Amino acid sequence: MPGYQIAIIPGDGVGQEVAIEAEKVLKAVVEKHGLDLKTTEFDWNCDYYQKHGTMMPEDGLETLKGFDAIFLGSVGNTKKAPDHIAATLVLGIRKKFDQYVNLRPIKLYPNVDTLIKTTTPETVNMVVVRENTEGEYSAMGGFFKPGTPDGLALQTAVFTQKGCERVMRYAFELAEERKKKGKGPGVVTNCTKSNALNNSMVFWDQVYNQVAEDYPDVTRDMALVDALAMWLIRNPERFDVIVASNLFGDIITDLGAMLQGGMGLAAGGNINPEKEFPSMFEPIHGSAPDIMFKGIVNPIASIESIRMMLEHLGENEAAQDMERAVSATLQEGKIRTPDMGGTSKTNELGDAVREMILK
Ligand code: IPM
Ligand code: MG
Repeated sequence: MPGYQIAIIPGDGVGQEVAIEAEKVLKAVVEKHGLDLKTTEFDWNCDYYQKHGTMMPEDGLETLKGFDAIFLGSVGNTKKAPDHIAATLVLGIRKKFDQYVNLRPIKLYPNVDTLIKTTTPETVNMVVVRENTEGEYSAMGGFFKPGTPDGLALQTAVFTQKGCERVMRYAFELAEERKKKGKGPGVVTNCTKSNALNNSMVFWDQVYNQVAEDYPDVTRDMALVDALAMWLIRNPERFDVIVASNLFGDIITDLGAMLQGGMGLAAGGNINPEKEFPSMFEPIHGSAPDIMFKGIVNPIASIESIRMMLEHLGENEAAQDMERAVSATLQEGKIRTPDMGGTSKTNELGDAVREMILK
């Protein structure tokens, strides 16, 4: 039995609240399944930035490297650090640990309401595979004559053969696996914009088609990102696995969250598939300053992220048990946070999942 070391970075705002519930549920799973797992907490956030001028210590990444996985709540507090500085914590970890797949399942659990008429547990069951280390997030560019009438800013997107190929391979393999397990029809939709982005996205499409050749059992599909946004609402059942660039994946997964019942239910994993570095699991919502410390944030997205972590670690039995518990808790519907139309508190929903696990 491997001894797992898990780093927990609660971060800012509601991140601190959901991290408590995530850990609570993790503890229950660990006890029930007899796992050997230890958590270590790090207080790296915008308060840390105010005190030290950086989001984490100089050797922070070196420290994290020794862990098997990381859980991150959320970062951001504009009163204490500019947003693009706060984001360096998460973006830095993604890049440094080559977490080149941002895996974002979009699955509607039974008895969960959404604002969108087309959604049912049958129609909403897909996974977005978002490229997570390059593309539009490559941080290439700069400012020229800032603050003058000649001022300009350049932000260059970088698409490499290696970067595109590896994320597409992951998407095709995932579609193949989902098909084998009866979880999906075996389709990879290429989220593109090659009609307008005549260099980067034309290249992206080329790599998609090259990679697709190696997966004859998987069906090819493509949608321009603007149309894809429309299709996600109109015909969510069309989608199985969607492969998207960094920025497009970012945008369509917030839309995807609404198909699942809201941001409070959307989980994600930043994966280094080779396991050369730790992967990081986080809800896709932000620090939500408007509702922070009111005890009303929905912890399901974080609990689901912990489930993805266990899956990544190969603890499939524990992960499946968590899936059962989350699904049963939502199905029962007694405990719901305000975003789901209820009046329950964050800790009550965490407790309910915990109890369901121990049942
Ligand atoms: C996300 C977030 C981040 C991103 C921010 C915090 C930089 O929106 O994880 O989706 O853009 O990737
Ligand atoms: Mg986002």
